[in-house]
Amino acid sequence: MAGSPTIGIFGAGWVGLVTGACFADLGHDVIVRDVVPERIDALKAARTPFHEPELSDVLARNAERIHYTLEADDLASAGVLFICVQTPPTYSGDADLSYVWTALDDLPHTDERQLLVMKSTVPVGTGEKVRAALDARGLTNVGYISNPEFLAEGTAVRDFMKPDRIVIGAFEAEDGAAVEALYAGIDTPVVRTDVASAEMIKLAANAFLSTRISFINEIANVCELVGADVQSVAQGVGLDHRLGPHFFRAGVGWGGSCFGKDVSALKQLAGNSGYHFQLLAAVIEVNELQKRRVISKLEKHLGRLRGKTIAVLGLAFKPDTDDMRDAPSLVIASRLLAEGAVVRTWDPVADARDRLIGATQCATVLEAVTGADAAVIVTEWEELRQLASADVRDAMRLPLIVDGRNLLDPAETRRAGFAYEGVGRPSSPLEALPETEPAVPVSGST
Ligand code: UDX
Repeated sequence: MAGSPTIGIFGAGWVGLVTGACFADLGHDVIVRDVVPERIDALKAARTPFHEPELSDVLARNAERIHYTLEADDLASAGVLFICVQTPPTYSGDADLSYVWTALDDLPHTDERQLLVMKSTVPVGTGEKVRAALDARGLTNVGYISNPEFLAEGTAVRDFMKPDRIVIGAFEAEDGAAVEALYAGIDTPVVRTDVASAEMIKLAANAFLSTRISFINEIANVCELVGADVQSVAQGVGLDHRLGPHFFRAGVGWGGSCFGKDVSALKQLAGNSGYHFQLLAAVIEVNELQKRRVISKLEKHLGRLRGKTIAVLGLAFKPDTDDMRDAPSLVIASRLLAEGAVVRTWDPVADARDRLIGATQCATVLEAVTGADAAVIVTEWEELRQLASADVRDAMRLPLIVDGRNLLDPAETRRAGFAYEGVGRPSSPLEALPETEPAVPVSGST
């Protein structure tokens, strides 16, 4: 793009690659730098190192505009540098900023004006610290901007190209304007603010989304006790324009690399500043307990789980990704193993063989449910919509489905000959099952 600066990216992870690919798609020249040689080799050989819809296509069609390197010095010609490195939690619950500081140490030397843009999620106050560190090193030619990402896995490319908003927090107005100009072509509101507020917007957004989910999960748990159906309740509540329908699906709890980390980081940040963020403490606890409720639901129908075979269907923390970070499946399967159950897992892309020692990972849904006393839907993969089939029913030892994502229709599932237990909706016990016709096998029905 004539006149526009080359964009350098620190970190070829999820955020870095999606950001690099999409900026290239907007017409910019991009150089992505990572410290892992295998990752850079894979990218140079046109292999995307993880599963993210559309990303490989975007990288492929912009191959001429996007380059990969191990050398930080190759970023010297970049006018804008995005930091897209991990900020995992430390033992104390604070964010580990060591990758951010390493990126700072690696800044290529240039006398030209250069902009350093933080995309990684960082505690409020990080920008001030980085600014002070830059000044202490005499790097007054480097401007600092906070420009948090709101990319959800599975829809990251779309989220970048069609965002709800772009948030830009800058110390200098012209630096903010220069970053805004990089997004030319994307039609969306731009929130221009100070650095601390931009940092807080990211943490508050993820904390509020998690709060909504924990809230509807608690409503679901009460629905179970009083005979209401949380699906109707969520619909009826969500139609209020002040509340909206999104992030209001009850289930087995939220997971993923961001929510747990960011909610804890915000709680910790408040605590470090002398404020006890009670609401977030509850949001986290509700989520922990929500994953474990699957075990009591199984026990309600099966009694003690020792020796019972349970199919855990879906391992990724949500569909359309192979990411298992903080996935509810890990807690559920580990609890089942601890109870002495035989655990058979299935997922179309995620692989848990090295994490769930003692569980058997199966290649197909039918293989996972064969001989099972119950099948638990943990991730709402499309393939599982057909779970209540005659093939599955006849393959299972007991036809019990615990639908952790309210994916199936309870009445249809019952009619297909399954006992059904969802989240926040009336359940039907094994004893109440109607007589069913023997199955006519349908190949590939699941
Ligand atoms: C999230 C934010 O959405 C994104 O803006 C941020 O930048 C990174 O964190 P992501 O972790 O990819 O993205 O997943 P998301 O789609 O938000 O789902 C998070 C978890 O919440 C998943 O485990 C999902 O299953 C769960 N969830 C989501 C619910 O249980 N109910 C809902 O209604 C929505």
